[in-house]
Amino acid sequence: MTTPYVEKEVDGDKSSDVVWHQASVSHDDHVKLNGHKPAVLWFTGLSGSGKSTVANAVDLMLHQLNAKTYVLDGDNVRHGLNGDLGFSDVDRVENIRRIGEVSKLFVDAGLLVSTAFISPFIADREMVREQLQAGQFVEVFVDTPIEVCESRDPKGLYKKARAGEIKNFTGIDSAYELPVNPEVHVETANKSIEACAAQVVSYLQANGYL
Ligand code: ADX
Repeated sequence: MTTPYVEKEVDGDKSSDVVWHQASVSHDDHVKLNGHKPAVLWFTGLSGSGKSTVANAVDLMLHQLNAKTYVLDGDNVRHGLNGDLGFSDVDRVENIRRIGEVSKLFVDAGLLVSTAFISPFIADREMVREQLQAGQFVEVFVDTPIEVCESRDPKGLYKKARAGEIKNFTGIDSAYELPVNPEVHVETANKSIEACAAQVVSYLQANGYL
């Protein structure tokens, strides 16, 4: 039996007296039943880049291919699980740490989970990658120029950020560190949502996930 991810050293951790309980239905059992390889499809990009839109289009395509899937979305998760976090660097790191942990659970259950968070820092994205096994972290860079994001401005947030009403806004007064070698590089500016989503699904098909 394998665990889906690398177990962390817990010495000095608050849960060091908690013993890992081996589930009756193993990770391999879940994977076998689901009939495809599990992974986190980690969508990263600026606000308004199209992460959630493309992630949801991918999710629909995968669902129609009978894959077991789920979407974790920044705007939604910040209402619940991460409702106590803001947009300082420290809070963003904690946001991604928690999402990484939740994603691992979904991978353990054998799912193809799509996450749509700005996740602006390379170190945090790599931290999530390192906690999973090889091939279980698929970084999808939703590459949309900030001018395009700003012209879309679906939530009116760029306008507020430019007016100084929102501080620490990614791309304006908070950094976005570009992915170095993402598994999938999607450029949304001149492509349909369906074409962007198909690019991700093609990657999964070409690499034996489906
Ligand atoms: S992350 O940086 O911690 O990964 P996350 O993806 O969860 O961010 O949330 C980003 C969403 O929160 C944006 O799409 C936007 O709707 C909203 N938001 C509110 N304030 C900010 C801000 N200062 N910077 C970026 N996004 C913000």
